[in-house]
Amino acid sequence: MARILAVGIATLDIINSVDGYPQEDDEVRATAQRRCRGGNATNTLVILSRLGHHCAWAGVLADEADAREIETDLSRHSIDLSAVMTVPQGKVPTSYVTHNTRNGSRTIVHYRDLPEYPASAFEKINLGDYDWLHFEGRNVDGAREMMTHARRLCPQLPISLEVEKDRPGKIDSLFVFADVLLFSRPFARGRGFEDGATFLQAMRKLAPQARLTCTWGEYGAYGLDRNGKTHHSPAFPPPRLVDTLGAGDTFNAGMIDALIDDQNLEAALTHACTLAGHKCGIEGLNL
Ligand code: FRU
Repeated sequence: MARILAVGIATLDIINSVDGYPQEDDEVRATAQRRCRGGNATNTLVILSRLGHHCAWAGVLADEADAREIETDLSRHSIDLSAVMTVPQGKVPTSYVTHNTRNGSRTIVHYRDLPEYPASAFEKINLGDYDWLHFEGRNVDGAREMMTHARRLCPQLPISLEVEKDRPGKIDSLFVFADVLLFSRPFARGRGFEDGATFLQAMRKLAPQARLTCTWGEYGAYGLDRNGKTHHSPAFPPPRLVDTLGAGDTFNAGMIDALIDDQNLEAALTHACTLAGHKCGIEGLNL
């Protein structure tokens, strides 16, 4: 089992379940409400921890009550929090999620008032303690500094980068640092692509050293290996779509888990899609 460090966010998710997505300016009653810890990097770590890996999180929390809930959940999943930075003011990132029970969709309105994890804190972490480094593609300038540092200090340490959204600061400049790039369909569409395989071919020019993947919802996921060969896995939908919140984060965990295990890209895609499909059939991340 591997030791994995992820840099990214933890959130408080307040999830209202509704029987059908409301119209704008509608007033509807939620059929259920729950609060839980979320956030891409920490969701991925929780899955990896459940798969047996030793996981640590590098991120920021505010000194307030909601942060305690997040810490409690991460500790429950044995995530090492020693690299976490706590700031005296601010609010932990909070996501107000509308969960449509008819199709499992999740619509997220996100609020945050917290600084990003600084490169100065990252540089204090002993990277020699880890076998894999995972970054959320956010805070582009900070991530570039951290990845440069990691590459300089530990050139052999594998790095995965999640690229879910386009971000200010030219996110493309991070691609050269990664061994594995994990793209999302919204990102590909934002770049004008309607087909995952063609999108990955275009991205290859920016990161010829990396293995690339792109999730494509009900069509599964595409991969491009370092020889330029395209791979594809179908989706593995559950009998009933219950909850898709965190499905992409689960896919990323599945990819990391399989690649650490030296599986080839085709097998890794299948593993990740299977795990993500399973997640969509249950509420939360208790896979
Ligand atoms: C799911 C998720 C939620 C969180 C939001 C942050 O992928 O990580 O748990 O609220 O995305 O963007």
